[in-house]
Amino acid sequence: MVVGKPLYTVNEIQQKVKELADEITRDYRGKDLLVVSILKGAFMFTSDLVRNIQVPLTLDFVMASSYVKTDTSGEVKLHCDIREQIRGRDVLLVEDIIDTGVTLNYLRERFLQKEPRSLKICGLLNKKSRRVVDIPVDYSGFDIPDIFVVGYGLDYDNQFRNLPYIAVFKKSE
Ligand code: IMP
Ligand code: MG
Repeated sequence: MVVGKPLYTVNEIQQKVKELADEITRDYRGKDLLVVSILKGAFMFTSDLVRNIQVPLTLDFVMASSYVKTDTSGEVKLHCDIREQIRGRDVLLVEDIIDTGVTLNYLRERFLQKEPRSLKICGLLNKKSRRVVDIPVDYSGFDIPDIFVVGYGLDYDNQFRNLPYIAVFKKSE
């Protein structure tokens, strides 16, 4: 297993996170912002993002994982649900990377049933070419091609999450 050069350096990530947080700060003035971080992958991104958001907010977490069985369908498992009330709140789902869109589609439908006042999605990385389910991404960091990346919360087999930058992952022969 090999981790290649940084695709996005610490500085590039921090710059992008600040831009996203500034947009969110502008849009959520006077609202009841509930940030919901999708674990495990989004833990590092969320921690930097909320530190840069300058409006009051509540933070909660869900833990979900997806099992894609074919190219067109996937099954999502919810390991841990949120504790906050959703009804009437302005919910922002925070995800590390949006790939097929299956995970977010599942969570989005589930959250919408609980009648939030608004529901938006923030993703640091976006692999548009892999999309199977159409998902509205309101705050999107970097568009990336169909490559596998690790670091800054993202893993390969639960490893490399602690890298402070994002790197391309290669499997050695
Ligand atoms: P989706 O349901 O296909 O959109 O899957 C999103 C999830 O797949 C993310 O939360 C990641 O856990 C995982 N994932 C997708 N692409 C990558 C990648 O390049 N590196 C690490 N994890 C990834
Ligand atoms: Mg993940």
